[in-house]
Amino acid sequence: MKKIKTLQCIRCGKDHKLLEAKYNCSSCGGNLQVLYDYNLIKKRLNYEVLKDNPERSIWRYIDILPISNLKNVPPVQVGWTPLYRAEKLGAECGVPNLYIKDDGRNPSASFKDRASAVVIARAMELKEKVITTASTGNAAASLACLTGSLVMKTVIFVPETAPAPKVAQLLVFGATVIMVKGTYDDAFDLCLKASAEYGWYNRSTGINPFTREGKKTCAFEICEQMNWETPDKVFVPVGDGNIISGIWKGFVEFHRLGIIERLPQLVAVQAEGSDSIKRAFESGMDVQPVSGKTIADSISVSLPRDGMAAVMAIKDSGGFAVSVSDAEILDAIPRIARGSNVFAEPAAAATYAGLRKAVSEGKVKENESVVLLVTGNGLKDIQSAMQSVGKPYVINPEMTELRKLLTDNNLV
Ligand SMILES: Cc1ncc(COP(=O)(O)O)c(C=O)c1O
Ligand SMILES: [Zn+2]
Repeated sequence: MKKIKTLQCIRCGKDHKLLEAKYNCSSCGGNLQVLYDYNLIKKRLNYEVLKDNPERSIWRYIDILPISNLKNVPPVQVGWTPLYRAEKLGAECGVPNLYIKDDGRNPSASFKDRASAVVIARAMELKEKVITTASTGNAAASLACLTGSLVMKTVIFVPETAPAPKVAQLLVFGATVIMVKGTYDDAFDLCLKASAEYGWYNRSTGINPFTREGKKTCAFEICEQMNWETPDKVFVPVGDGNIISGIWKGFVEFHRLGIIERLPQLVAVQAEGSDSIKRAFESGMDVQPVSGKTIADSISVSLPRDGMAAVMAIKDSGGFAVSVSDAEILDAIPRIARGSNVFAEPAAAATYAGLRKAVSEGKVKENESVVLLVTGNGLKDIQSAMQSVGKPYVINPEMTELRKLLTDNNLV
Protein backbone atom coordinates (compact mmCIF):
# COMPACT_ATOMS: atom_id res chain seq x y z
CA MET A 1 0.00 0.00 0.00
CA LYS A 2 1.72 3.13 -1.25
CA LYS A 3 0.22 5.42 1.37
CA ILE A 4 1.80 3.48 4.27
CA LYS A 5 5.44 4.35 4.88
CA THR A 6 6.25 2.18 7.87
CA LEU A 7 5.01 0.38 10.94
CA GLN A 8 7.23 1.95 13.56
CA CYS A 9 7.89 0.63 17.04
CA ILE A 10 6.85 3.20 19.62
CA ARG A 11 9.48 1.85 22.05
CA CYS A 12 12.68 1.44 19.99
CA GLY A 13 11.76 3.21 16.75
CA LYS A 14 12.46 0.22 14.50
CA ASP A 15 10.69 0.40 11.13
CA HIS A 16 8.78 -2.56 9.71
CA LYS A 17 7.30 -3.11 6.26
CA LEU A 18 3.53 -3.57 6.20
CA LEU A 19 3.60 -7.18 5.09
CA GLU A 20 6.47 -8.15 7.38
CA ALA A 21 4.89 -7.01 10.61
CA LYS A 22 1.67 -8.55 11.77
CA TYR A 23 1.74 -7.62 15.42
CA ASN A 24 4.53 -6.28 17.68
CA CYS A 25 8.09 -5.07 17.05
CA SER A 26 10.42 -7.80 15.81
CA SER A 27 13.29 -6.40 17.93
CA CYS A 28 11.87 -5.39 21.30
CA GLY A 29 8.25 -6.55 21.28
CA GLY A 30 7.00 -2.95 21.60
CA ASN A 31 3.71 -1.82 20.06
CA LEU A 32 3.78 -0.61 16.48
CA GLN A 33 2.19 2.47 14.99
CA VAL A 34 1.29 3.00 11.36
CA LEU A 35 2.97 6.00 9.74
CA TYR A 36 1.83 7.26 6.35
CA ASP A 37 3.28 9.24 3.49
CA TYR A 38 1.59 12.41 4.66
CA ASN A 39 2.66 14.44 1.60
CA LEU A 40 0.90 11.94 -0.62
CA ILE A 41 -2.18 11.87 1.60
CA LYS A 42 -2.36 15.67 1.73
CA LYS A 43 -3.19 15.69 -1.98
CA ARG A 44 -6.26 13.50 -1.45
CA LEU A 45 -7.39 14.36 2.06
CA ASN A 46 -7.85 18.01 2.89
CA TYR A 47 -10.47 20.45 4.09
CA GLU A 48 -11.98 20.96 0.61
CA VAL A 49 -12.36 17.24 -0.08
CA LEU A 50 -13.82 16.47 3.34
CA LYS A 51 -16.25 19.36 3.23
CA ASP A 52 -17.86 17.92 0.09
CA ASN A 53 -17.71 14.25 1.07
CA PRO A 54 -21.24 12.84 1.64
CA GLU A 55 -19.99 9.62 3.32
CA ARG A 56 -21.20 9.53 6.93
CA SER A 57 -19.00 6.87 8.50
CA ILE A 58 -15.34 6.22 9.32
CA TRP A 59 -14.80 5.33 5.65
CA ARG A 60 -14.83 9.01 4.73
CA TYR A 61 -11.21 8.81 5.97
CA ILE A 62 -10.19 5.81 3.84
CA ASP A 63 -7.26 7.79 2.41
CA ILE A 64 -5.60 7.68 5.82
CA LEU A 65 -6.64 4.19 6.87
CA PRO A 66 -4.60 1.00 6.36
CA ILE A 67 -6.94 -0.61 3.86
CA SER A 68 -6.93 -0.54 0.06
CA ASN A 69 -10.62 -0.23 -0.80
CA LEU A 70 -14.15 -0.55 0.56
CA LYS A 71 -14.86 -4.01 -0.91
CA ASN A 72 -14.33 -5.78 2.41
CA VAL A 73 -15.85 -3.46 4.98
CA PRO A 74 -18.72 -4.58 7.24
CA PRO A 75 -22.07 -3.47 5.78
CA VAL A 76 -23.27 -1.34 8.71
CA GLN A 77 -22.55 2.27 9.63
CA VAL A 78 -19.55 2.67 11.89
CA GLY A 79 -18.64 6.13 13.16
CA TRP A 80 -19.93 9.60 12.33
CA THR A 81 -21.67 9.45 15.70
CA PRO A 82 -23.35 12.60 17.02
CA LEU A 83 -21.49 15.34 18.87
CA TYR A 84 -23.98 17.09 21.13
CA ARG A 85 -23.71 20.44 22.84
CA ALA A 86 -24.62 19.52 26.44
CA GLU A 87 -25.92 22.81 27.83
CA LYS A 88 -27.66 21.56 30.96
CA LEU A 89 -24.82 19.24 31.94
CA GLY A 90 -22.31 21.99 31.24
CA ALA A 91 -24.19 24.38 33.50
CA GLU A 92 -24.24 21.77 36.27
CA CYS A 93 -20.47 21.38 36.31
CA GLY A 94 -19.50 24.95 35.47
CA VAL A 95 -18.24 24.27 31.93
CA PRO A 96 -20.78 25.93 29.61
CA ASN A 97 -18.93 24.91 26.48
CA LEU A 98 -19.40 21.18 27.03
CA TYR A 99 -19.89 18.57 24.28
CA ILE A 100 -20.67 14.88 24.31
CA LYS A 101 -19.45 12.56 21.59
CA ASP A 102 -21.98 9.74 21.76
CA ASP A 103 -20.13 6.69 20.54
CA GLY A 104 -22.73 4.43 22.09
CA ARG A 105 -24.53 5.06 18.79
CA ASN A 106 -22.26 2.66 16.92
CA PRO A 107 -23.64 -0.71 15.64
CA SER A 108 -22.64 -2.70 18.72
CA ALA A 109 -23.19 0.33 20.97
CA SER A 110 -19.55 1.15 21.69
CA PHE A 111 -16.54 3.07 20.42
CA LYS A 112 -14.80 -0.27 19.76
CA ASP A 113 -16.62 -0.66 16.44
CA ARG A 114 -14.23 1.87 14.96
CA ALA A 115 -11.25 -0.38 15.66
CA SER A 116 -12.99 -3.65 14.80
CA ALA A 117 -14.20 -2.35 11.44
CA VAL A 118 -10.68 -1.41 10.35
CA VAL A 119 -9.10 -4.61 11.68
CA ILE A 120 -11.76 -6.77 10.00
CA ALA A 121 -11.28 -4.97 6.67
CA ARG A 122 -7.56 -5.57 7.02
CA ALA A 123 -8.09 -9.24 7.93
CA MET A 124 -10.35 -9.70 4.90
CA GLU A 125 -7.65 -8.22 2.65
CA LEU A 126 -5.20 -10.71 4.17
CA LYS A 127 -7.75 -13.50 3.52
CA GLU A 128 -7.74 -14.54 7.16
CA LYS A 129 -10.32 -17.20 8.00
CA VAL A 130 -10.56 -16.89 11.78
CA ILE A 131 -10.30 -13.74 13.85
CA THR A 132 -9.93 -13.68 17.62
CA THR A 133 -9.74 -11.17 20.44
CA ALA A 134 -9.49 -10.91 24.17
CA SER A 135 -11.68 -8.21 25.58
CA THR A 136 -13.30 -6.80 28.69
CA GLY A 137 -16.48 -7.11 26.62
CA ASN A 138 -16.98 -4.26 24.16
CA ALA A 139 -14.18 -5.02 21.72
CA ALA A 140 -15.48 -8.58 21.57
CA ALA A 141 -19.10 -7.52 21.13
CA SER A 142 -18.03 -5.24 18.34
CA LEU A 143 -15.92 -7.89 16.62
CA ALA A 144 -18.81 -10.37 16.85
CA CYS A 145 -21.29 -7.80 15.56
CA LEU A 146 -19.23 -6.64 12.60
CA THR A 147 -18.20 -10.15 11.50
CA GLY A 148 -21.81 -11.38 11.98
CA SER A 149 -22.69 -11.56 8.28
CA LEU A 150 -19.17 -12.20 6.97
CA VAL A 151 -17.59 -15.56 6.15
CA MET A 152 -14.94 -15.07 8.80
CA LYS A 153 -15.19 -17.09 12.02
CA THR A 154 -14.82 -15.27 15.33
CA VAL A 155 -13.43 -16.66 18.57
CA ILE A 156 -13.82 -14.52 21.67
CA PHE A 157 -12.04 -14.64 25.04
CA VAL A 158 -13.70 -12.62 27.82
CA PRO A 159 -13.42 -12.75 31.61
CA GLU A 160 -16.18 -14.73 33.29
CA THR A 161 -17.31 -11.48 34.94
CA ALA A 162 -18.20 -9.70 31.66
CA PRO A 163 -21.67 -8.07 31.95
CA ALA A 164 -24.51 -10.27 30.62
CA PRO A 165 -25.69 -7.83 27.91
CA LYS A 166 -22.23 -7.89 26.33
CA VAL A 167 -22.17 -11.69 26.47
CA ALA A 168 -25.65 -11.77 24.91
CA GLN A 169 -24.32 -9.69 22.01
CA LEU A 170 -21.49 -12.16 21.46
CA LEU A 171 -23.82 -15.13 21.32
CA VAL A 172 -26.50 -13.43 19.22
CA PHE A 173 -23.98 -12.45 16.55
CA GLY A 174 -22.74 -16.04 16.38
CA ALA A 175 -19.21 -15.87 17.80
CA THR A 176 -17.58 -18.78 19.57
CA VAL A 177 -17.49 -17.46 23.13
CA ILE A 178 -14.90 -18.65 25.62
CA MET A 179 -15.40 -17.24 29.11
CA VAL A 180 -12.18 -17.39 31.06
CA LYS A 181 -12.23 -18.05 34.80
CA GLY A 182 -10.01 -15.12 35.65
CA THR A 183 -9.42 -11.49 34.78
CA TYR A 184 -9.24 -9.69 31.44
CA ASP A 185 -5.47 -10.06 31.71
CA ASP A 186 -5.85 -13.86 31.98
CA ALA A 187 -8.18 -13.86 28.95
CA PHE A 188 -5.64 -11.76 27.06
CA ASP A 189 -2.78 -14.19 27.67
CA LEU A 190 -4.87 -17.22 26.71
CA CYS A 191 -6.05 -15.55 23.51
CA LEU A 192 -2.46 -14.75 22.60
CA LYS A 193 -1.38 -18.38 23.07
CA ALA A 194 -4.39 -19.67 21.13
CA SER A 195 -3.81 -17.34 18.19
CA ALA A 196 -0.17 -18.44 18.04
CA GLU A 197 -1.07 -22.14 18.16
CA TYR A 198 -3.98 -22.05 15.70
CA GLY A 199 -2.83 -19.22 13.43
CA TRP A 200 -5.93 -17.09 14.11
CA TYR A 201 -5.72 -13.40 13.31
CA ASN A 202 -5.52 -11.51 16.61
CA ARG A 203 -7.38 -8.22 17.06
CA SER A 204 -6.43 -7.80 20.72
CA THR A 205 -5.51 -4.34 21.89
CA GLY A 206 -1.77 -3.72 22.04
CA ILE A 207 -1.09 -6.66 19.74
CA ASN A 208 -2.78 -5.43 16.61
CA PRO A 209 -1.35 -2.16 15.24
CA PHE A 210 -4.54 -1.36 13.33
CA THR A 211 -6.93 -0.86 16.26
CA ARG A 212 -5.44 2.58 16.87
CA GLU A 213 -6.07 3.41 13.21
CA GLY A 214 -9.82 2.89 13.60
CA LYS A 215 -9.90 4.74 16.89
CA LYS A 216 -8.27 7.87 15.53
CA THR A 217 -11.31 8.50 13.30
CA CYS A 218 -13.20 9.78 16.34
CA ALA A 219 -10.75 12.68 16.63
CA PHE A 220 -11.23 13.48 12.94
CA GLU A 221 -14.99 13.59 13.44
CA ILE A 222 -14.73 15.85 16.48
CA CYS A 223 -12.72 18.39 14.44
CA GLU A 224 -15.20 18.33 11.58
CA GLN A 225 -18.26 18.45 13.84
CA MET A 226 -16.82 21.41 15.73
CA ASN A 227 -16.48 23.25 12.44
CA TRP A 228 -12.77 22.55 12.07
CA GLU A 229 -12.04 23.98 15.50
CA THR A 230 -10.13 22.02 18.10
CA PRO A 231 -11.68 21.64 21.56
CA ASP A 232 -9.49 22.75 24.45
CA LYS A 233 -9.76 19.43 26.27
CA VAL A 234 -11.00 15.92 25.51
CA PHE A 235 -11.81 13.63 28.43
CA VAL A 236 -11.15 9.97 27.58
CA PRO A 237 -11.89 6.88 29.69
CA VAL A 238 -8.70 4.82 29.88
CA GLY A 239 -8.08 1.13 30.49
CA ASP A 240 -5.47 -0.32 28.12
CA GLY A 241 -4.76 3.14 26.74
CA ASN A 242 -5.48 2.35 23.11
CA ILE A 243 -8.42 4.73 22.74
CA ILE A 244 -6.53 7.72 24.12
CA SER A 245 -3.44 7.03 22.03
CA GLY A 246 -5.66 6.57 18.97
CA ILE A 247 -7.51 9.81 19.62
CA TRP A 248 -4.18 11.62 19.97
CA LYS A 249 -2.89 10.14 16.72
CA GLY A 250 -6.02 11.42 14.97
CA PHE A 251 -5.56 14.99 16.16
CA VAL A 252 -1.84 14.90 15.36
CA GLU A 253 -2.50 13.61 11.84
CA PHE A 254 -5.14 16.25 11.09
CA HIS A 255 -2.69 18.84 12.37
CA ARG A 256 0.08 17.44 10.21
CA LEU A 257 -2.19 17.52 7.17
CA GLY A 258 -2.94 21.18 7.89
CA ILE A 259 -6.65 20.49 8.52
CA ILE A 260 -6.60 21.87 12.08
CA GLU A 261 -4.40 24.59 13.49
CA ARG A 262 -3.93 23.52 17.07
CA LEU A 263 -4.02 20.40 19.22
CA PRO A 264 -6.23 19.72 22.25
CA GLN A 265 -5.11 18.59 25.70
CA LEU A 266 -6.13 15.04 26.50
CA VAL A 267 -7.33 14.11 29.96
CA ALA A 268 -7.09 10.42 30.85
CA VAL A 269 -9.82 9.31 33.23
CA GLN A 270 -9.17 6.10 35.13
CA ALA A 271 -10.93 4.27 37.92
CA GLU A 272 -9.10 4.47 41.26
CA GLY A 273 -8.55 0.70 41.36
CA SER A 274 -7.32 0.59 37.77
CA ASP A 275 -5.08 3.65 37.51
CA SER A 276 -1.82 2.25 36.21
CA ILE A 277 -1.49 4.80 33.41
CA LYS A 278 -2.16 7.73 35.74
CA ARG A 279 0.52 6.43 38.10
CA ALA A 280 3.06 6.05 35.29
CA PHE A 281 2.27 9.50 33.89
CA GLU A 282 2.63 11.19 37.26
CA SER A 283 5.71 9.28 38.46
CA GLY A 284 7.61 9.20 35.18
CA MET A 285 8.18 5.47 35.76
CA ASP A 286 7.24 2.55 33.49
CA VAL A 287 3.66 1.31 33.47
CA GLN A 288 3.26 -1.17 36.35
CA PRO A 289 0.38 -3.58 37.04
CA VAL A 290 -2.31 -2.59 39.58
CA SER A 291 -5.28 -4.52 41.01
CA GLY A 292 -7.54 -3.46 38.13
CA LYS A 293 -10.56 -3.57 40.42
CA THR A 294 -13.48 -1.31 39.50
CA ILE A 295 -17.19 -1.47 38.77
CA ALA A 296 -16.43 0.04 35.35
CA ASP A 297 -15.68 -3.29 33.67
CA SER A 298 -14.47 -1.76 30.39
CA ILE A 299 -11.60 0.05 32.09
CA SER A 300 -10.81 -2.73 34.55
CA VAL A 301 -7.27 -3.57 33.53
CA SER A 302 -4.33 -4.73 35.60
CA LEU A 303 -1.51 -4.26 33.08
CA PRO A 304 -2.45 -1.84 30.28
CA ARG A 305 -1.55 -3.19 26.84
CA ASP A 306 -0.99 0.20 25.24
CA GLY A 307 0.20 2.01 28.36
CA MET A 308 3.34 3.52 26.93
CA ALA A 309 1.51 5.09 24.00
CA ALA A 310 -1.16 6.38 26.38
CA VAL A 311 1.36 8.06 28.66
CA MET A 312 3.02 9.64 25.60
CA ALA A 313 -0.36 10.92 24.38
CA ILE A 314 -1.16 12.60 27.71
CA LYS A 315 2.34 14.08 27.93
CA ASP A 316 2.59 15.27 24.31
CA SER A 317 -0.82 16.90 24.50
CA GLY A 318 0.06 18.78 27.69
CA GLY A 319 -2.86 17.07 29.40
CA PHE A 320 -3.21 15.25 32.70
CA ALA A 321 -4.75 12.18 34.31
CA VAL A 322 -7.49 11.96 36.90
CA SER A 323 -8.84 9.00 38.81
CA VAL A 324 -12.36 8.58 40.13
CA SER A 325 -13.97 6.23 42.64
CA ASP A 326 -16.65 3.69 41.78
CA ALA A 327 -19.15 5.78 43.75
CA GLU A 328 -18.29 8.84 41.64
CA ILE A 329 -18.64 6.77 38.46
CA LEU A 330 -22.08 5.48 39.47
CA ASP A 331 -23.17 8.97 40.49
CA ALA A 332 -22.21 10.27 37.04
CA ILE A 333 -24.52 7.87 35.15
CA PRO A 334 -27.85 9.56 35.99
CA ARG A 335 -26.20 12.99 35.95
CA ILE A 336 -25.16 12.57 32.30
CA ALA A 337 -28.52 11.05 31.39
CA ARG A 338 -30.50 13.88 32.98
CA GLY A 339 -28.13 16.60 31.83
CA SER A 340 -27.63 15.51 28.23
CA ASN A 341 -30.13 12.72 27.35
CA VAL A 342 -27.28 10.24 26.84
CA PHE A 343 -27.15 6.91 28.70
CA ALA A 344 -23.52 5.98 29.37
CA GLU A 345 -22.08 2.71 30.64
CA PRO A 346 -19.87 3.07 33.76
CA ALA A 347 -16.53 3.48 31.92
CA ALA A 348 -18.02 6.17 29.71
CA ALA A 349 -19.70 7.91 32.65
CA ALA A 350 -16.29 8.08 34.32
CA THR A 351 -15.44 10.94 31.95
CA TYR A 352 -18.03 13.17 33.58
CA ALA A 353 -16.92 12.16 37.07
CA GLY A 354 -13.39 13.05 35.95
CA LEU A 355 -14.51 16.41 34.60
CA ARG A 356 -16.25 17.29 37.87
CA LYS A 357 -13.11 16.42 39.80
CA ALA A 358 -10.87 18.37 37.43
CA VAL A 359 -13.14 21.41 37.70
CA SER A 360 -13.11 21.20 41.51
CA GLU A 361 -9.31 21.09 41.43
CA GLY A 362 -9.17 24.15 39.16
CA LYS A 363 -7.73 22.18 36.22
CA VAL A 364 -10.47 23.19 33.78
CA LYS A 365 -11.30 26.84 33.22
CA GLU A 366 -14.85 28.05 32.76
CA ASN A 367 -14.26 29.38 29.25
CA GLU A 368 -12.71 26.17 27.90
CA SER A 369 -14.43 23.91 25.39
CA VAL A 370 -14.51 20.32 26.60
CA VAL A 371 -15.53 17.10 24.86
CA LEU A 372 -16.49 14.02 26.88
CA LEU A 373 -16.05 10.79 25.01
CA VAL A 374 -19.02 8.59 25.83
CA THR A 375 -17.54 5.33 24.63
CA GLY A 376 -20.30 2.86 25.45
CA ASN A 377 -24.08 2.83 25.86
CA GLY A 378 -25.64 2.37 29.30
CA LEU A 379 -27.69 -0.65 28.23
CA LYS A 380 -24.40 -2.55 28.15
CA ASP A 381 -24.40 -2.80 31.95
CA ILE A 382 -27.85 -2.53 33.45
CA GLN A 383 -26.79 -3.95 36.79
CA SER A 384 -24.45 -1.03 37.46
CA ALA A 385 -26.94 1.49 36.11
CA MET A 386 -29.60 0.20 38.50
CA GLN A 387 -27.20 0.70 41.40
CA SER A 388 -26.97 4.38 40.50
CA VAL A 389 -30.70 5.11 40.82
CA GLY A 390 -33.68 4.42 43.08
CA LYS A 391 -36.33 1.74 42.66
CA PRO A 392 -39.56 2.16 40.65
CA TYR A 393 -42.97 2.23 42.36
CA VAL A 394 -45.01 -0.96 42.10
CA ILE A 395 -48.81 -0.84 42.51
CA ASN A 396 -51.95 -2.71 41.52
CA PRO A 397 -53.70 -1.39 38.38
CA GLU A 398 -56.13 0.73 40.43
CA MET A 399 -56.70 4.50 40.32
CA THR A 400 -57.20 4.56 44.09
CA GLU A 401 -53.71 3.14 44.61
CA LEU A 402 -52.24 5.51 42.05
CA ARG A 403 -53.86 8.57 43.66
CA LYS A 404 -52.58 7.53 47.08
CA LEU A 405 -49.08 6.92 45.75
CA LEU A 406 -48.92 10.28 43.96
CA THR A 407 -50.22 12.17 47.01
CA ASP A 408 -48.12 10.32 49.60
CA ASN A 409 -44.94 10.91 47.62
CA ASN A 410 -45.67 14.50 46.61
CA LEU A 411 -45.61 13.56 42.94
CA VAL A 412 -48.45 15.86 41.83
C1 LIG B 1 -16.75 1.75 26.83
C2 LIG B 1 -15.25 1.77 26.91
N1 LIG B 1 -14.65 2.87 27.37
C3 LIG B 1 -13.31 2.93 27.50
C4 LIG B 1 -12.51 1.84 27.20
C5 LIG B 1 -11.03 1.96 27.41
O1 LIG B 1 -10.28 1.88 26.23
P1 LIG B 1 -8.75 1.46 26.30
O2 LIG B 1 -8.74 0.09 26.92
O3 LIG B 1 -8.26 1.48 24.92
O4 LIG B 1 -8.08 2.45 27.18
C6 LIG B 1 -13.09 0.67 26.73
C7 LIG B 1 -12.29 -0.52 26.42
O5 LIG B 1 -12.77 -1.64 26.49
C8 LIG B 1 -14.50 0.63 26.57
O6 LIG B 1 -15.13 -0.47 26.13
ZN1 LIG C 1 10.95 -2.09 19.13
